[in-house]
Amino acid sequence: METRKVYIETYGCQMNLADTELLIGLLKPHGYEPTQAVAQADVILLNTCAIREHAEERVLSRLGELAHHKVRRPEVRLGLTGCMAQHHREKLLDKAPFLDLVLGPDAYRTLPELLIQEEKDEPLVSVRLDRDETYADILPVREEGVRAWVTIMRGCDKFCTFCIVPYVRGRERSVPTEALLTQVEELAARGYKEVVYLGQTVNAYRDRDNDFADLLHRTAKIDGIDRIRFTSPHPSDMNDRVIEAMATCAKVVPYLHLPLQAASNRVLERMERGYTVEQYAALVKRLRTAVPELALSTDIIVGFPGEEEADFCATYDFMAEIRYDSSFMFKYSAREGTKAYKWGETLSEKEKGRRLQAIIALQERISGEINHQMIGQTVEVLVEGPAKRQEGWLAGKSKQFKTVVFPGNGIPPGNLVPIRVLSTTAHTLIGEVHA
Ligand code: 5AD
Ligand code: SF4
Repeated sequence: METRKVYIETYGCQMNLADTELLIGLLKPHGYEPTQAVAQADVILLNTCAIREHAEERVLSRLGELAHHKVRRPEVRLGLTGCMAQHHREKLLDKAPFLDLVLGPDAYRTLPELLIQEEKDEPLVSVRLDRDETYADILPVREEGVRAWVTIMRGCDKFCTFCIVPYVRGRERSVPTEALLTQVEELAARGYKEVVYLGQTVNAYRDRDNDFADLLHRTAKIDGIDRIRFTSPHPSDMNDRVIEAMATCAKVVPYLHLPLQAASNRVLERMERGYTVEQYAALVKRLRTAVPELALSTDIIVGFPGEEEADFCATYDFMAEIRYDSSFMFKYSAREGTKAYKWGETLSEKEKGRRLQAIIALQERISGEINHQMIGQTVEVLVEGPAKRQEGWLAGKSKQFKTVVFPGNGIPPGNLVPIRVLSTTAHTLIGEVHA
């Protein structure tokens, strides 16, 4: 079979990176190999994100740039996959008439078939959402390394009022537990040391009688896997069984990304997040009691429609009180099709920017302080490879998912090494091997 080359650019979250590995897995049996060189590609795909307007704008301008490959080599197929494809569907074709394919997240199986069809004037659009599609039988072609991303559930049923995900990724569905455990055993046999379970609401995982806590316990029994992580859980699905699994399975790392979004009950209610500030705070307390070393990160949105100065201050104060290790912070972006879209914007871009800068500065200070307190401690680092910082230095992650760099020529990736922390920044721990 003649080999054809596929080039994929990925935008957005880890789920999309995992979907790119899945797309390559789907194409490989049909004679496609991935390439990093776009100029040599027969197929060019942008695997896209629709979460904020900015993400979509980047993709549109990139599409314009990539279109010139089709001018010089008309046989090249140019496609858009993922959330933005699902979000805009036909509308995209007006904005980007040179597209050959538009494929939503549940339509990836159709890709090989669509690629062998004769080129048409009209692009091929496949955006049917499928309540049962989990791609459980498809083996992703994974990046080499120490860490494997494993999608355990797809879709979201929560319908937070700001979020496009339930519309573009459809309903929640989980990959069968047995299929996942077999996959992780194979990953361990191939030398992967860390698995990261992925899902839009990862802890809503359920396969018949097996819930997310069961999956963690059963994964922890697999030899060869040293670390288990997951993202992103929803606070409302963070039950005692999951907390107990985090506390008792030594391989489940003491790190949790727990999206808060806002810390004003008025805003949380309008976001339809399903918890109050008090419930969230109580959950953090339970987690910190059960897992004393726990590092926490979060997602925050500023400038949600109707967010008053007092609401924003409540979020600011709550972040100062919880002291997250790190935060992903965003300006609200109105997404057509969501409930909040109809409420319009109530704040200027400038005011949203001011609020964002204020919490970024707060978080930088707190991250810096938390890391600074680690000076003198020894942390266990899973070595990933050379550090960009300096020739001969290595980089890896601590159990708390902090980036650690250290001079360490010759230690192969995949090793766990004790590193004494000598200095820190808000984002990195700098250390040396603890003899
Ligand atoms: N505007 C800004 N941020 C958003 N997120 C989701 N939807 C929006 C939006 N419309 C953020 C949330 C979520 C993260 C993945 O992206 O914080 O947790
Ligand atoms: Fe979006 Fe809310 Fe679902 Fe997260 S839980 S993907 S924010 S709708």
